[in-house]
Amino acid sequence: MKKVYGIFLFFVLVLLIAACSADSSSESDTESEGGSDENESSDSSSGEVEIFSWWTGAGEEDGLLALIDLFEEKHPDIAVENAAVAGGAGTNAKAVLATRMQGNDPPSTFQVHGGEELNKSWVAADKMEPINDLYEENEWMDKFPEELIEMVSEGDDIYSVPVNVHRGNVFFYNMKVFEENDIEVPTSFDEFFDAADQLQDAGITPIALGDKESWPATQIFENILLGVLGPDDYQNLFAGEIGFDDERVVEAAEIFGQMLDYVNEDHASRNWQDAGQLVANGEAAMLNMGDWAKGYFSNDLDLETNEDFGYFPFPETDGEFQVITDTFGLPKGVENTDDVKKFLTVLGSVEGQDTFNPLKGGIAARLDSDPDAYDEYGNDAMDAFQDSRLVPSLAHGSAASEGFLTKANQAVNIFVTQRDVDTFIQALESAAPEM
Ligand code: GAL
Repeated sequence: MKKVYGIFLFFVLVLLIAACSADSSSESDTESEGGSDENESSDSSSGEVEIFSWWTGAGEEDGLLALIDLFEEKHPDIAVENAAVAGGAGTNAKAVLATRMQGNDPPSTFQVHGGEELNKSWVAADKMEPINDLYEENEWMDKFPEELIEMVSEGDDIYSVPVNVHRGNVFFYNMKVFEENDIEVPTSFDEFFDAADQLQDAGITPIALGDKESWPATQIFENILLGVLGPDDYQNLFAGEIGFDDERVVEAAEIFGQMLDYVNEDHASRNWQDAGQLVANGEAAMLNMGDWAKGYFSNDLDLETNEDFGYFPFPETDGEFQVITDTFGLPKGVENTDDVKKFLTVLGSVEGQDTFNPLKGGIAARLDSDPDAYDEYGNDAMDAFQDSRLVPSLAHGSAASEGFLTKANQAVNIFVTQRDVDTFIQALESAAPEM
């Protein structure tokens, strides 16, 4: 009897604790919704911020570490925990994040692509705080392009701060290899395949691919889709207005298969940096990669822009810009909101963006960054960003939901080995309702 009574008391206690913590969490919810008043400021600082991303290792980490140094210089009283999880394009980090978010253990702030990855996953699940107040305080509304603010908003609420803009539809190439083999920069698919034949005849791997994680192959496919469909129908496809059985999608799949004929044999055991090395050392000629590869070439491999490596738009996508934007927001349930907002303020500042991006390879998301902080590649990318038609990337989370992307990556992975266009198209079609 005593034991039963004891268990009963234990449950009453648990219920009481749960009720108290529910109270306090709803209090803190309302407090943070109301913005930063004096009381909140003193309550919502823990002297620590945990920054969650997938930027570890070569070509990824340098920018983040420089940004953290800048933050620590400005806020020596706040310690930074760098909680990066390795794996390009968030292959592993996204799963770790999902577990933490579901377990109500969010990091102070986390890397998330603008567009569907932010809006369909975390905002729709009511896991993010709006941060309009931060945009107002910092007068950011006209400092970031409207299109980017839209990508991180639902209705009137803004949910994150873009730290960069990467361009996904670029081919980087080894200039010496092109010169020695008398190759002109190709603009159409026909010219591209002529160049690839010439390179192959000369014993050079035309295209370097590292699809140990499948997203680099998905990225090639999305760029072919952009080239074949053009920007309007590319977007209509992901809006569900065009079917994946459209003959132009089938044509894109065929071109994709053709491109795969020109990649290195060991592509499945390489990651994107390993594939980049093939271009750097001249074993391969070209690499389609977002311009984080530019950061890797310049800062990790010490290659000179427009001397050692050049770049050109993915065939038939000139005038279009595949936008990949990494952003950081404020998850609900985080207690140190003041510290997080201080970090986001540095990350959104000109100084923060111009510290991070020249190392990372892309450009600032802000329109008023300093062109002198960037080399020729960065300046070209800035011009292209202003003058081009912007389209969201599938492989990097902006064009479609995470559910669709996972299935598209699986379909691509199977296609790379089997090369069966019909099976590929059917797999995409049956994944389409997830968009
Ligand atoms: C992208 C991300 C880039 C870069 C890349 C490779 O998804 O937006 O910043 O990290 O993955 O890991």
